[in-house]
Amino acid sequence: MIRKCLFPVAGYGTRFLPATKAMAKEILPILDKPLVQYGVEEALEAGLTDIAFVTGRTKRAIEDHFDINYELEDQIRGTAKEAMLSGVRELIEKCTFSYTRQIQMKGLGHAILTGRPLIGYEPFAVVLADDLCFGDTAGHGVLRQMVELYAKHQCSIVAIEEVPRDQTSSYGVIAGVPIDDRLIRVTDMVEKPKPEDAPSNLAIIGRYILTPDIFEIIENTPPGRNGEVQITDALLRQAKEGRVLGYKFRGQRFDCGSVEGFVEATNYCFETFYKKQ
Ligand code: UTP
Repeated sequence: MIRKCLFPVAGYGTRFLPATKAMAKEILPILDKPLVQYGVEEALEAGLTDIAFVTGRTKRAIEDHFDINYELEDQIRGTAKEAMLSGVRELIEKCTFSYTRQIQMKGLGHAILTGRPLIGYEPFAVVLADDLCFGDTAGHGVLRQMVELYAKHQCSIVAIEEVPRDQTSSYGVIAGVPIDDRLIRVTDMVEKPKPEDAPSNLAIIGRYILTPDIFEIIENTPPGRNGEVQITDALLRQAKEGRVLGYKFRGQRFDCGSVEGFVEATNYCFETFYKKQ
């Protein structure tokens, strides 16, 4: 059983400056809801109620978001506006939240290792909240699909998506052996390869299930691309033992860490959810 979900949110968000100078990119809203709330909703839908954040400087608003604001809530009590907080109130009631700080931003792998005391020794999910995901037509979120797969396969799983060849340098890219239409046993993975060096056009997006031995592997993983400790390099060690699956998820994903993806997500949510209210 997976209960815990780690949100590494300590990155600088340089693609979104100046908005992210004093504010976490995960607090940026798609319509009226911060990115991070979509992520926690997806985790809860997958049955994950222990929410762990690896935060950094300028990220305090995330903690405040998942807490009660007594003054504000007193102000709107009994008005129609109260309903606007019901979604986040449900998360606060059903989930527990814990936080630790990454002091130096040494990469995603390092951020995940920083979260180790909050996870302990059990399998866990990782959500990069700037990848906004919507699930299949039955309403099953991407994380839920992955948790179900984990129950069957009991190994690390990365969500993957086909991307245009000229975009491989923005992602970790995998190669592997197909198991079925959606599942691949990963044999190789490379962080941000140039298109000519990419082993495929299957990119890892911001949803992972990791087995806890990954912590020790990360500890022994030297800094890779950009001098950062890369989760891709650590996962490659598991992949070499046949212990990583790539999953072509059902649903849609928007890269909200980029302005283009953010605008696309905003338009999609406006058309799909807001207009239908
Ligand atoms: P990104 O590669 O998107 O980096 O990190 P970033 O700093 O957030 O954004 P850009 O590229 O500069 O615009 C992927 C995820 O890993 C987290 C980020 O918060 C993001 O969720 N991360 C990255 C950390 O928590 N710590 C790090 O040291 C690096």
